[in-house]
Amino acid sequence: MGKYWLPFEFFKEKNKLKDVKEFHVHDSDVIIASFPKSGTTWIQEIVHQLSDGLSESEELTIEEIFPYIEYVYPGLKHLAKCTSPRYMKTHLPYELLPDDVYTGHGKVIYIARNVKDVSVSYFHFIKMLTITKYSGEFNDFLTTFVDGKDHVLGYWKQREQSNILFISYEDLHKNPVVVIKQISSFLGKSVDEKQMLEIAFQCSFSQMKSNPLVNYSWWHDLGISDKKQTDFMRKGKVGDWMNYYTEDMLKKINVCCIEPAEKEQLILKDNL
Ligand code: A3P
Repeated sequence: MGKYWLPFEFFKEKNKLKDVKEFHVHDSDVIIASFPKSGTTWIQEIVHQLSDGLSESEELTIEEIFPYIEYVYPGLKHLAKCTSPRYMKTHLPYELLPDDVYTGHGKVIYIARNVKDVSVSYFHFIKMLTITKYSGEFNDFLTTFVDGKDHVLGYWKQREQSNILFISYEDLHKNPVVVIKQISSFLGKSVDEKQMLEIAFQCSFSQMKSNPLVNYSWWHDLGISDKKQTDFMRKGKVGDWMNYYTEDMLKKINVCCIEPAEKEQLILKDNL
C-alpha cells in the first residue's frame, strides 16, 4: 500500500485499522470524508444545520458532534454507543474506510479542494499545531506534501455509488445554495428556499469564523494550537496558492494537479 498521511494518534491503538474496517456502519450514518484542509468543517456545519435532530446539540462543538472515526478520542467505542442518526468524519482514503461502506451502508459526503490551496492551508495548519513544532518554510513542506499518495482519486472513482456524494470546495464557494441543495437532497431532507438561504448564511466563512462552536478556538484555549500563527478559519479563499507558489514549486506540485478524470484515464492506460 502507498504512503498515506494519517494522524499519529491513529497508531497508538493496536488493531485500529482492523477495528475501523470492521466498524458496523448504519444506513442512517453520515460520514464526512476529505483530505485534511479541504473544507471538512464547512461540510460538517452544513450537515449540522440541515439536521433537525441535532437541535439539542447546541452547546456541543463540531468536533463533538462529528467524532473522528480513526482518532483515539472519543473513539469507535463511543460511536458504537451513539444513537441514530450518527454523524462522523474521517480523513481516511477510500481504501481504508469501513467495509460496510462498500456494500452501500451509510452516506458518505466527500469534499475535494484544489491541491495547491490545500497545501497552503495545510502548511499554516501544521505551523499552528503546537505539537508539531514545525518551523520549516513552505518549500520544504511542499516536498513532503507531494510525496503522499492521491486521496481524491479513490473517492472520485466511486462518485456514482448511491451512498457517495462527491463535491468540490470550489463549487461550494462559487454557489453555496446549489451545493447545499445537493447535500440536502442526498441526505433526504426537505428544506425550503428561505431555510436554504439561512443555512448558506450561517455557514458562510465570516459566520463560521466567529462561531465558537465551529471555529476551533477551543484548541487555542487547550494549548493545542498557537493563535499567533493563524486561526483554524484562516482565509477561506479560492486561489490563495498564487501568493505562495514559485515556478519551481508549480513544477513540483504539477503531478498532483491533474484532474481526477484525466488521472483515471492515465492510470487505466498505464495498466493496459
Ligand atoms: P484556509 O486555510 O485556506 O482558510 P478543514 O475543515 O478540512 O480542515 O479545512 C479548513 C479550510 O477550510 C480552511 O482553509 C478554512 O478557512 C476553510 N473553511 C472553513 N469553513 C469555511 C467556509 N465557511 N467558507 C470558506 N472556507 C472555509
